Amino acid sequence: MATFTERMGPVLLFWLGLCLSGTWAVDKGNFKTCDQSAFCKRQRAITPGESPYRALLETMELTNTKLTLQLINDNNKVRLLLELYRLQGNITRVKINELKPLKPRYEVPDVLIREPPTEPLSLLSQDENGVVLSLGAESQRVIVSARPFRLDIVEGRDVLMSLNSRGLLGFEHLRMRKDTSQADPEADNKEATDPPSQVETTKEEEEKVEDGMWEETFKSHTDSKPNGPSAVSLDFSLPGVEHVYGIPEHADTLKLKTTDSGDPYRLYNLDVFQYELYNPMALYGSVPVMLAHNAQRTTGIFWLNAAETWVDISSNTAGKTVFGKMLDYVQGSSETPQTDVRWISESGIIDVFLMLGPTPREVFSQYASLTGTQAFPPLASLGYHQCRWNYNDQEDVRAVDAGFDEHDIPYDFIWLDIEHTDGKRYFTWDPHKFASPKEMLQGLMDKKRKMVAIVDPHIKVDTNYKIHNEIRSRGFYIKNKDGADYEGWCWPGSAGYPDFTRPDMRAWWAGQFAYDQYEGSMENLYTWNDMNEPSVFNGPEVTMHKDALHGSWEHRDMHNLYGFYVQMATAQGLIERSGGVERPFVLTRAVFAGSQRLGAVWTGDNAAEWDHLKISIPMCLSLGLVGISFCGADVGGFFKSPSSELLVRWYQTGAYQPFFRAHAHLDTPRREPWLFGPENTALIREAVRQRYTFLPYWYQLFYHAYQTGEPVMRPLWVEYPQDPATFALDDEFLLGRDLLVHPVTEEGARGVTAYLPGKDEVWFDIHTFQKHNGVQNLYIPVTMSSIPVFQRGGSIIPRKLRVRRSSACMEDDPYTLYVALDNRRTAEGELYIDDGHTFNFEKREFIHRKFSFTNNVLSSVNLEPDAQFTTKSWVERIIILGASKPSKITLRTADDQENQLEFDFDASMSVLTIRKPGMNAGADWTMTLQ
Ligand code: GLC
Repeated sequence: MATFTERMGPVLLFWLGLCLSGTWAVDKGNFKTCDQSAFCKRQRAITPGESPYRALLETMELTNTKLTLQLINDNNKVRLLLELYRLQGNITRVKINELKPLKPRYEVPDVLIREPPTEPLSLLSQDENGVVLSLGAESQRVIVSARPFRLDIVEGRDVLMSLNSRGLLGFEHLRMRKDTSQADPEADNKEATDPPSQVETTKEEEEKVEDGMWEETFKSHTDSKPNGPSAVSLDFSLPGVEHVYGIPEHADTLKLKTTDSGDPYRLYNLDVFQYELYNPMALYGSVPVMLAHNAQRTTGIFWLNAAETWVDISSNTAGKTVFGKMLDYVQGSSETPQTDVRWISESGIIDVFLMLGPTPREVFSQYASLTGTQAFPPLASLGYHQCRWNYNDQEDVRAVDAGFDEHDIPYDFIWLDIEHTDGKRYFTWDPHKFASPKEMLQGLMDKKRKMVAIVDPHIKVDTNYKIHNEIRSRGFYIKNKDGADYEGWCWPGSAGYPDFTRPDMRAWWAGQFAYDQYEGSMENLYTWNDMNEPSVFNGPEVTMHKDALHGSWEHRDMHNLYGFYVQMATAQGLIERSGGVERPFVLTRAVFAGSQRLGAVWTGDNAAEWDHLKISIPMCLSLGLVGISFCGADVGGFFKSPSSELLVRWYQTGAYQPFFRAHAHLDTPRREPWLFGPENTALIREAVRQRYTFLPYWYQLFYHAYQTGEPVMRPLWVEYPQDPATFALDDEFLLGRDLLVHPVTEEGARGVTAYLPGKDEVWFDIHTFQKHNGVQNLYIPVTMSSIPVFQRGGSIIPRKLRVRRSSACMEDDPYTLYVALDNRRTAEGELYIDDGHTFNFEKREFIHRKFSFTNNVLSSVNLEPDAQFTTKSWVERIIILGASKPSKITLRTADDQENQLEFDFDASMSVLTIRKPGMNAGADWTMTLQ
């Protein structure tokens, strides 16, 4: 029996660490640098030069859909197999594996939504130097050069992307450990005829066996590496590119930086305590997708590998000033800008999708065709969420809920953190503090509100805990390297980690959400999955040992996928408990490619600091670029206490970000919105109310994201791809195409300067209706109530101005249409309505309408006539911005009735307000201004 200190030691130490570290700083010593990660160090030590790899053209096989070709490493004679596919929608897939690996190498399952459909490939020419293939109809070709091996993707005369052009392809073949294998004396002579079995470490390599190949120690942890070195790496050159984005999650700028003088960006899901800003360290999520953009083209690289990964970026123009670039240009001495990237992963294979655009939208749709689109969330989850660690008991929940009514602030979800459970046993309730959860949930339901309770994936090792006993008896826990159940320390003390990679485990887990299994749960209870990197307080880098086992695979191979599977199983559970009827809502901290299909994500444990407020913008933008639209940061900051100014500014920013939740650490003073004096309460109320008025627009944007994969919150360059001034903005963003948001994120700000893009665009301040022309840097004086937001001229945005307790209370409320005219006096927009919570929209039970204003006629037409839904909501007001005064306005309804409408015209602002036109929101109508 372990003593109490032995058992609790690591948790106590962890907590001591939390309490003693008064200053804000990540303990970098807890996390590896590239130099401390043996495979990264080995691969990064390979410098650009001639690649040892050669393509063996005589092994080439070309079928209609696939090219295969062997590559040989001339240093060790090991052969690789290259497969090249042309996929539908302008995507090229390149796979490289060992020709004959000693044992299978991990290929990431469950992330692609299907085997991607291929298109024909055809041979254009071939000689002893290489082959040229045609890639579909786009005048694109792929050139395979043999000696050294490289791939170039070319369109017309332009090279879009080159692979291995810097000679950095690295593929550590699996081998026997030299002290356990009999070296094969003929290993070196096996080249041409008979492919070697690749099991031997050749003589050259034996001399080069380095530390960290078969075992690696970091701090007190030793990683046994029974499979030895297994890293893969490859370089990509992007001619003409100076801006690359994506590969979240990092607390860094939107435009990625070059990494020559420091560490590469790291992708390894980690629970980083007090993470630091503006650096490439790994965080909770990893999405191995990078976008490259210039004024002519957008492309993307999707590196499908779930092992620890590092990404190096270099550029020949980095560090050059604009003046320097201009001088080069004037003197004719400028070389073409180029960005070079290099991906390094610890194991698995090379499986890379080259998404060739050419527009940002096409890259989004290409990526969505591979990994799916954003889950369409329940409408209520787009409202405001009130969380803290913790709401102490039912009485606390009741009082906070009542506080919102008392202060007339809407909210949809109140959240319970880990303390609500019976001793950190998830799926249970503290018997004293939460003695009657159904009563509590019913109370919320009566007010059309909902709750989220946390369910983490670490399971308390306790033979009196049913969940633990079942997982253990079914053999569902991840195993340690010796085959026993893996145990680590987390919130409950000693915990096991269910093997979510197993479909049978996920099915069992999903079953735990059934109403008769999860006692005290009801249909307005949803789920939060935290700590799913997974977080292991006493593990290496606060996570799981890489030599832990998921069946025959090592944790090393799929670490970055763990959180994705946890959220998948949980979302499945919420769907199943309703018999497949209701849409789930699950928040996750860890993500991978494909997580967009499963729910929402937040940026983890930030702090109540201005810089953390600022970084929420590029962090969510980066996630959106790789498909994950439903993103937010803890409003107010998790650690520390915000000043009232920071809190207000954070609410104002969060109100215009996709996932809008306030959250705070256990040790922080309470900060419900009404605790900062009446003025601040009013400011917060106003920000939250603005959010609610825009819910119809948010919902429509999410419907669109679900259909297309386009990000809801997007960088300006997505809509203005040719305008370099938009390429590196970190302080403003667009929601859809039509709302431009430049929140105030500076302490004591008296004004902000917003960049209004588009030389033919006009932008209307949504509060004052003042019109501004693009392109300009607009200085906006601000007060504490200012949230600078602009509606694009040319758009129509539906809003609901009668804000109530929660989104569900507003269901039947009428709409106000904001019609913002462009310079041609036209505008268009959409409205999407369904029941807000079921999957019936998949059965086409919805209303999807298009509004347009042209030639002084505003009309509403059905965009999807085969869809059916009825709504009680009607149009109560139309506000036309940039209008001139009509003499009369006539409404013609679908049954050919004509009505004259009343209106007001504000000549000073050119705003026309049409009162009570009264049409049903689902009806056809036209309105003529004369
Ligand atoms: C983690 C989460 C945080 C949560 C806490 C307790 O730190 O990131 O949001 O409140 O765990 O569950």
